[in-house]
Amino acid sequence: MKTIMLVFGTRPEAIKMCPLVKEFQKRTDVFNTIVCVTGQHREMLDQVLNIFDVKPDFDMNIMRQGQDLTDVTVRILTGMRDIFKTCKPDVVLVHGDTTTSTAASLAAFYAQIPVGHVEAGLRTHNIYSPWPEEMNRQITGRIAKYHFSPTLLSKKNLIEERVYGDIYITGNTVIDALHMVVDKLKNDKNLSLEKEKKLFNAGYDVSRLNNDKKLVLITGHRRENFGSGFIRMVTAMKDLSEKYKDVDFVYPMHLNPNVRKSIHEVFGENLKRPNFFFIEPLQYIEFVYLMEKSTIVLTDSGGIQEEAPALGKPVLVMRDTTERPEALAYGTVHLVGTDYDKIISEVSMLLEDIDAYDKMSKAVNPYGDGNACNRIVRILNDENVDQYKV
Ligand code: UD1
Ligand code: UDP
Repeated sequence: MKTIMLVFGTRPEAIKMCPLVKEFQKRTDVFNTIVCVTGQHREMLDQVLNIFDVKPDFDMNIMRQGQDLTDVTVRILTGMRDIFKTCKPDVVLVHGDTTTSTAASLAAFYAQIPVGHVEAGLRTHNIYSPWPEEMNRQITGRIAKYHFSPTLLSKKNLIEERVYGDIYITGNTVIDALHMVVDKLKNDKNLSLEKEKKLFNAGYDVSRLNNDKKLVLITGHRRENFGSGFIRMVTAMKDLSEKYKDVDFVYPMHLNPNVRKSIHEVFGENLKRPNFFFIEPLQYIEFVYLMEKSTIVLTDSGGIQEEAPALGKPVLVMRDTTERPEALAYGTVHLVGTDYDKIISEVSMLLEDIDAYDKMSKAVNPYGDGNACNRIVRILNDENVDQYKV
């Protein structure tokens, strides 16, 4: 029996790790599965744990309002050290590029426990973009013994860095999560109705989208954009919403106080507008539901760059770099940075030019087939692993 500990702490990690928890839990014959959450996020993490019905065995509950990166790192390092004193897993699995994943990897390394890195090998090669994520994932890549790369390109990045351990191509577990939710919504009409009601209570009436009204769905939270970058982004959104009064703009706001500060600086204290809807972060199912209804997604998120193309939605990424160039190559994702003029012109083009819109809105999915979790479980159980080492 192998003991696997999955460690995560933020919303996107939870979305991408919960399906993996479920897959390990199916194999009680060979795995003892332990879930450890750092609580780097609180409300946004708990929302996802509830949806997937995952109950952590350990919860370090480290979130403090406006915590800085050193606080997060130190709390996780000491917290993990104490957990490893009571429970020594055979493998620790971490995800992606957050401070949770890097600090947990380092703590596991100090306890001499092998680390598996899910979503390994994504790179921009610019350590300040995204910051601190690019360095976070490079450090985790150095420590990990098992690297689960979503694509061939991410595997190649790791080969170039001559990381130690074994590299496998598994696809991204985000597609597993997305399939689960999309299938649920497709097969359960009542669920869709329930989600519409929840969205209404959250502040957005989906029935507005009848009669072909267009929807621009927005998210933003990158640290390197805080301050002037965010002000430019939000000013462009405001001006777009005034230019296109018949289009709805919906922005589920990240709970990081720096995000809301910039929004209020541009929009003032009262955020109510006839066609701009600022709402609290949505539960994953509601968010996927809204992505499916949207016309354009405007974001600086990582995970949304993987999900929206799979749903055939054009994505404008408010960043200068991306570690996910695959969908960029297919043309469904464009980088617009935090440049006011570029955001205005690219959104305007997609709203006005049908050909440009059609070109960008084809469904592509370079990130996986929905079976990534199953592959990772089989690899850690030494079943037919060589086929994924291609
Ligand atoms: C973190 C990750 C980032 C990831 C993002 C996903 C790091 C350094 N950053 O950024 O890589 O893309 O999550 O969303 O690991 N807050 C709450 N409740 C919550 C969540 C956050 O109140 O449920 C507030 C708190 O004031 C907290 C602040 O947001 O201090 C920042 O949270 P933090 O996890 O440090 O950074 P994120 O910007 O969320
Ligand atoms: N998401 C969500 N509710 C929201 C906004 C986003 O469930 O209100 C989901 C989204 O579908 C994606 C993930 O959260 O799976 C992305 O998280 P985030 O943008 O916070 O982090 P990143 O992916 O940039 O690390």
